[in-house]
Amino acid sequence: MSGALVARGCFVAGTDTEVGKTAVSTALLHLLGADGSRTAGCKPVAAGTVMRDGLCFNEDVRALRDASSLDLRDAEVGPCQLTAACAPHIAAALEGRSIDREALRRAVGALARRAEWLVVEGIGGFRVLLGRGWDTADLACDLGLPVILVVGLRLGCLNHAILTADAIAGRGLRLTGWVANAVDKAMPQRDANVAALVERLAAPCLGVVPQLAPPTPSAVAAHLDAAAVRACLNPLPSPGVV
Ligand SMILES: Nc1ncnc2c1ncn2[C@@H]1O[C@H](COP(=O)(O)OP(=O)(O)O)[C@@H](O)[C@H]1O
Ligand SMILES: [Mg+2]
Repeated sequence: MSGALVARGCFVAGTDTEVGKTAVSTALLHLLGADGSRTAGCKPVAAGTVMRDGLCFNEDVRALRDASSLDLRDAEVGPCQLTAACAPHIAAALEGRSIDREALRRAVGALARRAEWLVVEGIGGFRVLLGRGWDTADLACDLGLPVILVVGLRLGCLNHAILTADAIAGRGLRLTGWVANAVDKAMPQRDANVAALVERLAAPCLGVVPQLAPPTPSAVAAHLDAAAVRACLNPLPSPGVV
């Protein structure tokens, strides 16, 4: 679908599930919307709904919706919400359906045409199965957005980050930046791990987010480099270049 998207934006991938993709995606929306720009968050596939105050919703979808400056409906932010909190293709099968790849492209494209900035949160790690013969890497390719990688700082993250960066490049996508996120309070040698990634990953580090209580969009955004974020998401040449 490259070329069909109008908004500038990114696909937020993670080294794993529970590494801070939602925390960083909502922070990006907060940061990009600070000047009044039209922003939209999207979670193309979301697995796991909760029931609160008699309402059934997906927490990631709701967080992205709340952080968007456009007034969006849950169904626009999360076009495929599955009930079970498990691997998406299994959650879909439990409901007797499959995930419709073309419908996801259309839904994300519709948001992209309304927003100036689009932040698409991936699902789990970079290669989560979505159906027979396709996974989240294919979804990222369909959207053609630059990728921001959230590295959950925990033991094993160097391996996960480097494997994911290789997988992103292997699919012809651009890793445009990465964020280190301190998800594990007790991680030893956190700074040395970040330094190793700064040396190893070709893309710029957009921020190192410490343990925050709570990790609200504004609190996380305060640890991101706003200028670097805007620069790495803007695929257009700067004025005067053309
Ligand atoms: N920097 C942080 N400090 C403290 N808690 C964090 C931080 N980043 C994320 N968390 C918490 O870790 C959990 C996973 O984060 P989340 O953004 O939902 O990850 P993902 O979207 O990758 O599954 C959530 O409970 C979130 O509140
Ligand atoms: Mg999430």
